[in-house]
Amino acid sequence: MDNFKDILGSDIVNRLKERGVTKFPNESMADREKRMQRADLDATMKYYQHDRIAMFNSSLIGQKEALKQTFDDFNITSQNQARELSEAKSIAERIANGEHHHYTFTGTPGSGKSMLAIALLNQLKASHTCFFVDFAMLISLTRQFKDDRAMADVNRVMRAIKLADIVVIDDLGSESSMQRNVKESSNFTQSKLFEIAQYRDLKTAIITTNHTSQELKQIYDDKLVSRLIMTDGSKNVVRFNSEDYRKYTN
Ligand SMILES: Nc1ncnc2c1ncn2[C@@H]1O[C@H](COP(=O)(O)OP(=O)(O)OP(=O)(O)O)[C@@H](O)[C@H]1O
Ligand SMILES: [Mg+2]
Repeated sequence: MDNFKDILGSDIVNRLKERGVTKFPNESMADREKRMQRADLDATMKYYQHDRIAMFNSSLIGQKEALKQTFDDFNITSQNQARELSEAKSIAERIANGEHHHYTFTGTPGSGKSMLAIALLNQLKASHTCFFVDFAMLISLTRQFKDDRAMADVNRVMRAIKLADIVVIDDLGSESSMQRNVKESSNFTQSKLFEIAQYRDLKTAIITTNHTSQELKQIYDDKLVSRLIMTDGSKNVVRFNSEDYRKYTN
């Protein structure tokens, strides 16, 4: 048993002894090395697996329940919905195959943009770190700079936006159109968005919005819009034309 102290280190041997392990398999150094490397890799993968799901579950969203939505939950009653679902699935597949890009889900309220963005994250969350951010919520939290808890939350969210493999920035523009239809965004909001654009440069981001890119250019700096929003007609844009689903449920 003591010979194993040289190989495993006395600490590990003592811990194994405590757990009642008295015999070690008769394996070669090379085999043992491989086994330990495998165990190490397994443990690391398990850790990240756990961490990944924890990160996704800590997304900034009003209703946590909504984070459960999957592609299978998306009902199809029109050709538009069939196309929207198939385009979102195809983007999920491209991302799974290693594509890094920015994607835009744009169109009418209640048509399923946020739902399909979340479904895409659920599809990929086992292999990618995913994070969803309600942009209006982030801005409202950021404005509470006298509240330590809010600031801690903002820092956590910004760290996740920086680190995650795939980030959804949900409902871009809604934070500025709350008072009037289209209103120029404040410097404050734009600087937060610049920070996000910088973090997501060369990484995958999905932006959902009710606005056209022309409208977004009235709200934000042109440069910001062209960095974040894909031009219409690109295969990285999913255009949602379906009716407001909420009117059937409310
Ligand atoms: N095809 C669908 N099948 C099942 N549920 C749907 C479908 N489309 C939308 N919904 C549901 O309708 C509600 C509104 O959808 P969602 O929030 O995704 O719309 P949105 O396009 O993001 O709207 P907004 O522009 O207002 O943010 C959600 O509860 C969503 O789950
Ligand atoms: Mg939405």
